Amino acid sequence: MIAFEKVTKIFGSFRVLDNLDLSIPRGKITVILGKSGEGKSVTIKHMMGLLHPTSGRVLVDGQDITDATEEELREHRKKFGMLFQQAALFDSLTVGENVMFPLMEHSKMSPIAMVERAEKVLSEVGLPGIQHKYPPELSTGEKKRVGLARALVHHPKIVLYDEPTTGMDPLVSEMIDRLIADVSRREADLTSVVISHDLKAALDIADHVVMLYMGRVQLAGSPDDFRRSKDPVIRQFFAGRVEGPMEFF
Ligand SMILES: Nc1ncnc2c1ncn2[C@@H]1O[C@H](COP(=O)(O)OP(=O)(O)OP(=O)(O)O)[C@@H](O)[C@H]1O
Ligand SMILES: [Mg+2]
Repeated sequence: MIAFEKVTKIFGSFRVLDNLDLSIPRGKITVILGKSGEGKSVTIKHMMGLLHPTSGRVLVDGQDITDATEEELREHRKKFGMLFQQAALFDSLTVGENVMFPLMEHSKMSPIAMVERAEKVLSEVGLPGIQHKYPPELSTGEKKRVGLARALVHHPKIVLYDEPTTGMDPLVSEMIDRLIADVSRREADLTSVVISHDLKAALDIADHVVMLYMGRVQLAGSPDDFRRSKDPVIRQFFAGRVEGPMEFF
């Protein structure tokens, strides 16, 4: 569904992505792992065309978006749902209006149909009947679920989750992970890309795992490939140790 071909991204003199070859299968959950600052968020921004490679090519859904115009990228972005690291809801809008936001931007649905669709997707994330509340009235976990509903409301082909559970308590994390897995199972064609630090959860929900290191893929494979890997960098990440080949700067 998504392919990076020798993508290099340089900010100033800092090389974040270094000849990165990456491939994200269609209809599956891919988890992208990597320590902080390794370029995970930069990578998903390239997928949406929010950042452009210094060199190399980005292909999404059969389309080369590397040299796409802003107009073409606006169309391109309609394929995506995005759950931001901070749920990023508008506090002055109701939950329902927040969830309907992508529909208002991208679709020609009638207002009644939008309300119905928002209610349906809120029910799917376990929050029926809260359309009229405002985000400040919600718990962190509820906000995350509203963000998830908003990411899914317009039936995207690809949904990107940037650290969906970072900073959540273990129960909420587990619930969010389960929702991600449920949504993916329900919508067989949906391609999910989850960025995570949380190795254990990642291996629980992933069909495919990619670990970024030094601007490249250190390992790509199944969760079992990761569990079995003898690669010292992978083992260090598993063990959560500072000592090892992986450099911290
Ligand atoms: N727009 C930008 N301009 C300059 N440098 C940037 C920009 N965006 C990201 N960077 C740099 O690129 C590197 C990778 O950033 P990125 O946000 O992708 O990290 P990350 O892997 O998502 O980390 P975290 O797990 O902490 O979110 C960082 O050193 C960051 O400072
Ligand atoms: Mg990030």
